[in-house]
Amino acid sequence: VRLIDQRALPGELRFVECRTVDELCEAITSMAVRGAPALGAAGAFGVALAARTIADDDGVQAAARRLAAARPTAVNLAWGVDRALGAWEQGGPDNALAEAERVASDDVAANRVLGGFGAELVPDGGRVLTHCNAGSLATVGYGTALGVIRAAHEAGKRPHVWAGETRPVLQGARLTAWELERLGIPVTVIADVMAGSLMATGDVDVVMVGADRIAANGDVANKIGTYPLAVLAREHDVPFVVAAPTSTIDLGAPTGAVIPVEERPDDEVVSIAGERIAPEGVGAANRAFDVTPARLVTAIVTEHGVLRPPYEDALRAAVMRA
Ligand code: MRU
Repeated sequence: VRLIDQRALPGELRFVECRTVDELCEAITSMAVRGAPALGAAGAFGVALAARTIADDDGVQAAARRLAAARPTAVNLAWGVDRALGAWEQGGPDNALAEAERVASDDVAANRVLGGFGAELVPDGGRVLTHCNAGSLATVGYGTALGVIRAAHEAGKRPHVWAGETRPVLQGARLTAWELERLGIPVTVIADVMAGSLMATGDVDVVMVGADRIAANGDVANKIGTYPLAVLAREHDVPFVVAAPTSTIDLGAPTGAVIPVEERPDDEVVSIAGERIAPEGVGAANRAFDVTPARLVTAIVTEHGVLRPPYEDALRAAVMRA
């Protein structure tokens, strides 16, 4: 399984080749590959890899379980693993690989469609605040929140993007800025803590973010720092929009309260680029995600249209159609 090594960006565009499931699990936990839909595809290809490299059926099942557990919050990972595992159970290794290819190509298609729906929510010349990276890198291609921005750009709407740097792993400053710059879409990086000031001065027209898991009631788990943006957006009357394919919807989670929130090593917080910034011996808390309650979400853009509150029935219908 060959992946862009997102840890090296924007400095270097390099690839990681995973020849075993353990190598792929390491690529997932260390965030060489990251972003919910990209994890879904990685999980599916991981099962295909397991089916090719592990001789006994129990070993393949165990490898699938290890992959699905490598990162707990993005539901796409377990979803992608399950799709390929089901195909393997029915038709063996070639079938698992064919299913992984379908997971990948379906994702690009879904993003293009949802991008078109979401572009309607971006005003002409709109100033769009986004968080983390929900672009090509985080998906298989095109992107979700960035897919919406891309579609608006392609439609001639001339969006300008505020990219929150996204402490501590800096997906916004490193990855979103890299992608948008390559696409020729104007982007300005901000410290996460500047978002409130920008909204207060009327410089944000819409907040557009991705999701790692959407509960059945519309609560949204996404990168840590998303929830405060939603609170600020409500205070300043700015629409707060979530863009995600239906593979991110988890009808098995009734509310966001049951979504597992990954805790990551504290050195991501106390160090920057390997350089320690906090005194030795001081620990850090590092929740990687937060949950935004559905009441703060203006709309959820999926490949089956723009969903509006109340979300229960709309989310269920979108999943059924998918
Ligand atoms: O920890 P990460 O970088 O995997 O978190 C990614 C996000 O929070 C994204 O916003 C989300 O996965 C949507 S990607 C289209």
